[in-house]
Parts: sequence; C-alpha cells; structure tokens
Amino acid sequence: MKFQNSPWIKNSRVPQGLLGLAMLYSGSAMAQDAVPGPAAKVLPAEQYKPTLVPDRIILTWKGDPATTQSVTWRTSAAVTQAVAEIVVADPGPDLEKSSRRLAAVSEPLTSNLSTAHFHSVTFADLSPETLYAYRVGDGANWSEWFQFRTASQKPKAFSFMYFGDAQNDIRSKWSRVLRAAWSDAPKAAFMIHAGDLINNAEADEEWAEWFGAGAWMNAMIPSIPIPGNHEQAKVNETTRRISHHWRPSFTLPENGPQGLEETCFTLVYQGVRIIGLNSNEKQQEQVEWLEKVLAENQEKWVICTFHHPLFSTGKDRDNAQLRALWKPVLDRHRVDLVLQGHDHTYGRTGLATPVATANVAAGVNVKDTFSGTVYVVSVSGPKMYNLQRHPFMPRQAEDTQLYQIIHVDGECLSFEAYTATGELYDAFQLNRQSDGTNTMVERVPDTPERLRPAVQSEPAKKASEALK
Ligand SMILES: [Fe+2]
Repeated sequence: MKFQNSPWIKNSRVPQGLLGLAMLYSGSAMAQDAVPGPAAKVLPAEQYKPTLVPDRIILTWKGDPATTQSVTWRTSAAVTQAVAEIVVADPGPDLEKSSRRLAAVSEPLTSNLSTAHFHSVTFADLSPETLYAYRVGDGANWSEWFQFRTASQKPKAFSFMYFGDAQNDIRSKWSRVLRAAWSDAPKAAFMIHAGDLINNAEADEEWAEWFGAGAWMNAMIPSIPIPGNHEQAKVNETTRRISHHWRPSFTLPENGPQGLEETCFTLVYQGVRIIGLNSNEKQQEQVEWLEKVLAENQEKWVICTFHHPLFSTGKDRDNAQLRALWKPVLDRHRVDLVLQGHDHTYGRTGLATPVATANVAAGVNVKDTFSGTVYVVSVSGPKMYNLQRHPFMPRQAEDTQLYQIIHVDGECLSFEAYTATGELYDAFQLNRQSDGTNTMVERVPDTPERLRPAVQSEPAKKASEALK
C-alpha cells in the first residue's frame, strides 16, 4: 500500500514524525481513509494469459474408469513437448523416483484472448481401485502432484455430484456452489455438468472462470461435461457448431454417433451406465445410437444426462419435439434417472411423468402416465428464470442455486439436492425390485418451496384495491 500517495497524508497537518505513532493507534480508521481508490481493472487478456506453468488441469475419462484416466491442461504456445508423470501414490514424498513419464498429445487453440497449447495424456493399464499420484508439465515447469483413485471393475457403492447450468458470473457466484458440494462429498467419484458451463461459447475469459472455480478439484475429481446451447457458437444465421474450446479442453469418449465425438458418449462406473447426449444437434441420429446402447446394456443402473429438459420447468420453454424423439427410447429401456439443465429453475418428477399437452385443460395427458424414469432439472449458477409449475413435480424451486449429490449402493439409488448454502432442498430414493422396476421413497424435507412472490395481474390488483 503506498501511503505517500494517499490524499490523507498529502493534506495532513500531522507532523511526519508523528505519523508512525498515529498509525499505531488509529490503524483501522487510517487504513479506511488512506484507501487510494480502485486501481485499473486487469484486462482479461492479461489475467488469463497462458504461461509455461500448466493451468486448466482437468481429469476426464476417454476409456474405462477402472483402468484409464485422462488429463488435459493448458500452457502457452512456447510449450511444444508436454509430458505427464504417474506413480502409485505413496505416503513417502519421493514420488518422482519411481514415476513413469508419458508424452502428451498437444494442439493449439487461438481464442479471443490468446493462442495457447492444450495438452492431454490418457494413463492406461492402471490397476482398479488404486490411488495414483500424477503431475503434468514440460520437464522444467510442473503442476503439483495430484491424486486420483481408479474405479472398481465391479459394482460398488459410490457418490457423484451433478450441476445444472453454471453459465454466468462463474468466478464470482458459481464457485461457492461447486465448493459447497465438495465440502459435502469430498470423495465423490465424479462431477456431471449438464451443459451451459459458460455463456459465450468462444469467450476465453469465461472458460478461464469455469476452470478457475474448479481449480484443484478438477485435477482430483474427474468431470463428465456435456454441452448446452451456450457451448454452441454461431457460424451464420442458421448454423451453430460446438465451441472451439470444447474438444481441446476435455478428453472424453468418442463412442457416440459420428460427428458427435466427445459430446455424445457413454461410460460405465462401478455398475452404473452413464449416457451423455448432445441435445443441441443431430437429435434424430442419437435415437438409433441410444437404442443400441440401452439394448446392449448390462449394468444395473442407467443415468442419462443432457441439456434440454424433456419436462421443462421454465415458462413457455417446452421441448415437445425432443420429448417425442427421445422419451419413447428412455421409456422402453426403463432408464432410471435423467439429469438436465437449461431452464434455470429446479424441478423433479416422480416415477410417473404425465406429458403436458395443450389440448387437455389440466395439462395432464392420461394416455401416458408411466415412464419409470425420474427427470430432474437444476441450476447451479446465478441466472434465474420464471418457473413453470407442474402437478407431477413434487418439488420445484425458483431463484435458488443448487447442487446435487447422488449415491448408488446395490439396489438403492439416493438423490439429494442442496441449496448453495448447504440446506437439503429435495431428496428421494429409488429401490430396485426383483422384477427390474423401481419403487420410489419421497424424502422431500419439510421446508417451504422457494418461489418468487406471486405477481398479481393488473385487473386483479385493481379489483383488490377497489375493495380497500
Ligand atoms: Fe442456460
């Protein structure tokens, strides 16, 4: 702090020799008076400049979580030969002595702020259920040693986190949600991000905020992100494509339909099949692929995640076409849980999810009352929309940042949604029956729903005023 530049000192009548004494006795008042005003704001190009030191380090899977682990990171373009080192974690500190070194695959990315190099390594032939330590760098500049644990090859109890749209004010107001989730489930196996991680597909400063919020969590707990409409960049008036950041930033499975590599995929974690779909494009092409994946599935639990909800919780945001395309496939194969985003509100169905149609006054179509699938829409960032109430959703919310923790253990899947301040907001449990169906136990806490105050219509307002 530069006291000599302070207007307080410049205009002071206090003799300079007494300044030290005065500072001792009235430190807080002086400090307040002496604040010189804000310095210039650091420009994003400066703040998020890539350097020789790795940043944006993130674990993901391209292959089997029991035997592989992928890591992706960023450096300045000066790093052309990046490497990763890995060793079975040991309490002793000499990790580099017995580690093995792997060369990274690197690619350049020119963004609105800079040209950077993105590097990735997939560690293979790992032992299941083993704690590993790894670091990334160029041989001279290294990340810290991070630790991760490989999955079991068999079904085994675990928890994971699920987040709806982060999207806006990511550093300022989303980071607290991610960190609250971590403090509740620090041993979570992975984090699902159901799209709209950022707002402007090609804005490097927003990707920087997203990676900054996750920081070392991203380097220790693998992420499973799927793209939302905001990860789609405009090509022209009618065409959009996935952000240039997506594929360099994440190393994800390429087992989806052609043209949707790393945006539509499936993987298995300890008896749970996770299916990520890309609801932005090629929706029809994904039907056939989804049908095949579900028909061949051998796992007990199936969880799908995609961005656009089949039962919208946002006002006037129904995705009828997508519902007509994908819901019959999910129904046919009795998918257990669908995790979605997009509507910046919260809503969760029961096992029976009637389709709302325009031609039925009550909004319930009695022809389609069974699905056996629980659909969730949630939001983790600060952008909030108006809620669409549904009679078939036992719990909904407006103006609430949330995170979810899901626990799978044998025949039981339990789901918990928490507010950004750590209060349980919604919960239920699915119990697998011997005939393959689920029963559901509602565990909605006995707290009021968080809803905006009802807005009175103009005629109603006039009528009530006339009565006064
Ligand atoms: Fe969104």
